[in-house]
Amino acid sequence: MRFTTVVAAVAVAATGAEALSLPLPIPGWTVSQATGFNLDISNKYGSPIPPWKPGHKPGWYYGPGNPFKYPQYPCLGGIICKILPYFPHSLQCPKPIPPKPPHTTTTTKTVKTTSTKTTTVTVTTTTTAAPTPTPTNGYTPTFSNITAAVQADDFLTFGLVETIDDCFAMCNSVAGCGFVNTYHDVNGKGGSPDLTCSLFSKCHGPEDADNRGGQSQPDGSIDFIIDSDGFCKDT
Ligand SMILES: *[C@@H]1O[C@H](CO)[C@@H](O)[C@H](O)[C@H]1NC(C)=O
Repeated sequence: MRFTTVVAAVAVAATGAEALSLPLPIPGWTVSQATGFNLDISNKYGSPIPPWKPGHKPGWYYGPGNPFKYPQYPCLGGIICKILPYFPHSLQCPKPIPPKPPHTTTTTKTVKTTSTKTTTVTVTTTTTAAPTPTPTNGYTPTFSNITAAVQADDFLTFGLVETIDDCFAMCNSVAGCGFVNTYHDVNGKGGSPDLTCSLFSKCHGPEDADNRGGQSQPDGSIDFIIDSDGFCKDT
């Protein structure tokens, strides 16, 4: 298969690249020739048709825990992350968002014993991080859990992710990204249960979310949108 052969060739070349100081990949190659996927900015990073139009498909998949889940989409993990930096106008692999540390509180209790003596006890409690909506990871929520997705001219790209943090990581790696919309496109995206991660350049509120699905799928079902959350990137 062409993709495998080309990537294997580049992989071998890339391994020796630093030692040989060769300009790699082959000069004049496009990102499509090097990876088998057109992840160029001019192709909306692999998703030229936005999610509210018929015929759309995700441009990429990013899931740090399971990097090679979809053979049909470019999965942003492994060797492709070593090839993409040679193509500055292409999508790049994101830096993972570190998991939130547990929230620790320290309280001091004064315990009075039966005698006249007073003992001070220090209690350390560990609780899970505060729930949303709170400003998180440099993003501020504009809507949450609605049944429609944002549809706007400043659409940049869309793909599939496992978590909202993965979508933040993607937005951080796309030049000019200022808004994240994650949602479940039920019956859409070939039946995948993963979150859709749709990126825009400008901030959007719920008034711009008017894609409720309603598109016929190849299996005859109609898709619909649930769990749609919007976040503006803090400036
Ligand atoms: C989202 O909304 C649906 C429908 O109202 C509700 O069943 C579900 O529990 C909500 N989810 C969250 C995380 O609040």
